[in-house]
Order: sequence, then structure tokens, then C-alpha cells
Amino acid sequence: MKKILLLGSGELGKEFVISAKRLGCYVVACDSYAHAPAMQVADESCVFSMLDETALRAAISEHKPDLIVPEIEAIRTEVLLDVERQGFEVIPSARAANLTMNRDRIRDVAVGLGVRTAKFSYAESAAELLAQAQSIGFPVVIKPVMSSSGKGQSVAKTQDDIQACWDYACKGMRGDRQKVIVEEFIHFEFEITLLTIRQRNGSTIFCQPIGHVQERGDYQYSWQPQAMKPQYLKTAELMAEKVTADLGGVGLFGVEFFVTQDEVIFSELSPRPHDTGMVTLISQNLSEFDLHARAILGLPIPHIDTIEGASAVVLATTEGHSPTFTGVADALSEPGTDVRIFGKPTTRPFRRMAVALAKGPNALGKARAAAQKITVMSI
Ligand SMILES: Nc1ncnc2c1ncn2[C@@H]1O[C@H](COP(=O)(O)OP(=O)(O)OP(=O)(O)O)[C@@H](O)[C@H]1O
Ligand SMILES: [Mg+2]
Repeated sequence: MKKILLLGSGELGKEFVISAKRLGCYVVACDSYAHAPAMQVADESCVFSMLDETALRAAISEHKPDLIVPEIEAIRTEVLLDVERQGFEVIPSARAANLTMNRDRIRDVAVGLGVRTAKFSYAESAAELLAQAQSIGFPVVIKPVMSSSGKGQSVAKTQDDIQACWDYACKGMRGDRQKVIVEEFIHFEFEITLLTIRQRNGSTIFCQPIGHVQERGDYQYSWQPQAMKPQYLKTAELMAEKVTADLGGVGLFGVEFFVTQDEVIFSELSPRPHDTGMVTLISQNLSEFDLHARAILGLPIPHIDTIEGASAVVLATTEGHSPTFTGVADALSEPGTDVRIFGKPTTRPFRRMAVALAKGPNALGKARAAAQKITVMSI
């Protein structure tokens, strides 16, 4: 039986724990707060900040896991690099966790591999940001190099927006570096997540592309399969294979691309299941969490069956605790519809609390309608 130390215990971690436990694993779920979603289904739990070097080292030496599985980006990844050298296995690799924690590092890797990205530059002050934005050309997208789920991200349409964008980025930054990436705004036709699986004993394989829509830098709904030109899909697969091969290790990656009329552009990647990939809980015979578990355990993935499916998020609107959900029965009354309630103990505006899933014809319409029927109330 493999012992897994899960770093981060959100909704993606929860589904991963269910998949891993079905394959006989023992899971210790860690997060900075008690009763986090994945802790509710794990064998043991451990509460500490993943950014706290001493606590992270202590958890690894106490539990001596066979596999360390990061679920979030904000981890003291230097510790992972160090324990990997001591013989612990980090999924997919300590290098992947370390490089993807910072947008600039993974972007530099992509460029080094000759992968097409949006035009971009970096800035460490408002003045530098203005200069870089002028040289790229407005509008530009500005993101802190360390942040996730759209935090601190904004679009500057003209130079008058620059100071506000800089201030907003500084507020949304994590870590100790006051640095942003400033990117050419891509007028894409659609964007996709290409779930890419690196196997222990087999070639790199892909799921059908997942289309998604984001608001405030956070995903709202996703669907699979997203139709796209076969040669564009091939190009995306080649880029995904190249970047994930460079990061190394085994497991599932969520590789994000923008697709325009003329080309496919690499955006970023998660070396772990992706939030837009929650659709696979209903659209595939093996969900992205099952695939991650099989890949890291060295188990075969003979075939991935896909049917039309969609997911839509259910967000909280107020700050509070002990949430309750109304409208669930109504949402579930539609055939081919399902719901996953994450079990987060507290709410805040826009916090993702559940996801509605649907399959079959008009899956997206059904998933969005189901999500709209559900209301989160908290005390
Ligand atoms: N250069 C760009 N041009 C147009 N839209 C962009 C650009 N960069 C980002 N976006 C939009 O913002 C979304 C979030 O950006 P990105 O994936 O880089 O940030 P993130 O904070 O890592 O988000 P998440 O953690 O949800 O994946 C993208 O999915 C896309 O919709
Ligand atoms: Mg993203």
C-alpha cells in the first residue's frame, strides 16, 4: 500500500483522495485549515501552512510518504527539491512544482523550448510596467508572477490604467517578489485545457480538449470535448508533450492554450489536476483524478472513453461559515445531471463551493442551469 502525503486539501485534492483510496492508497491530507475538503475523505490530516519550511519538513519526516503529491501552487518548493535529492518522490517532480509556482520561470522554460507564447515581459515597478506595456502594445494583461486563480490579474486598456493595475497586482501577490508579467492581450476564439498524462511505463497520452470560460481570472464553466481543427490539436499536443517532458516525472498535467483563427498559443500549465478538468468527473470513464492516481502508481491506462460533458461552478456570495445549499434537489431532477458539494467550512464572495455536472446532448446548458438552481447560504 502506497502512502501519499497530499499538500493542499481543496476540492481537487478531495476527488484525488477518493481515486487514490479506491486503488488502495493511504493518504495524509495537509492544508492550512482544519476540515478542508480532502481531509474529510483521507486517512489522516495535518494542519500547517505549506509555505512554512519547518512544518513542511516535519510533516515529511514524520509520515515518510512513498509519494508527495502537491495539490496547490503555494508550497515552499525548495523543501521539495531538497527532499527529492534525499530520495523522496515528488509528483510529478520537484522541478515541476518549483518552476510552475512562478509564472516567469515556467514561461522562460516554454520560450527556451521554442514553444509559442503571447508576447510578454516582466516589470518590477509601475514605471517599468508602463514602459513594457507601451513596447508590447495595449491592451495588455498584467499578472503577479506568484499568484493563482486570477488573483491580482487585470487588463490595462490604455496607459491611464497602469498605476491601478500595478497596485491591484501588488495586492494580489504572494511571496516576496514584487514582480509582474505583462502580456499581449490575445483575442482568442476559445481557450482549452489539454490534460496531459505522463506515465511510468508508457507514452505520454492526452484527454480530449476541454473548453472553458473564465471570469475574474477564475473558471466558470467548462465542457468536453471542445471541437478544434485536427492540426491545431496536434500542435497543442506536441507543445504539451515538449513542456511536460522537460518538467519530468509522472502524473497528469493541465496544459492551457489560447486558440485563435490562425494559431495555438501556450499559456500556462498545472503539474496536477486542473479545475476546468472537473468536467471529467462526468465526461470520461476515468476522471482526471483517476488518471493522476493511475499514472503516479504506475498502473495502466488502456483507454480513455469520452462523452459530451460539462461543468459549472457554484459560488458563495457572502462571508460566513457552516454553509447550506438550497436547490440541490431541483438541480438533480434533470436526467444526466450531478453535483459535487466540496464541504468547505467557510464562505466568502466568489469562493467556489460546489460544481454542477451534466452529460449528453446540451450538457453545457444543463450544467449551467443546474448550477444556477443552487444557492449557498451561510451563517
Ligand atoms: N494574454 C492573455 N490574453 C487574453 N486573455 C488572457 C491572457 N492571459 C490570461 N487571460 C485570461 O485570464 C485567464 C486566467 O489567466 P491564467 O491562467 O494565466 O491565470 P491563473 O491565475 O493561473 O488562473 P488559474 O489559476 O485559474 O488557471 C485565462 O484563462 C484567460 O481567460
Ligand atoms: Mg490558468
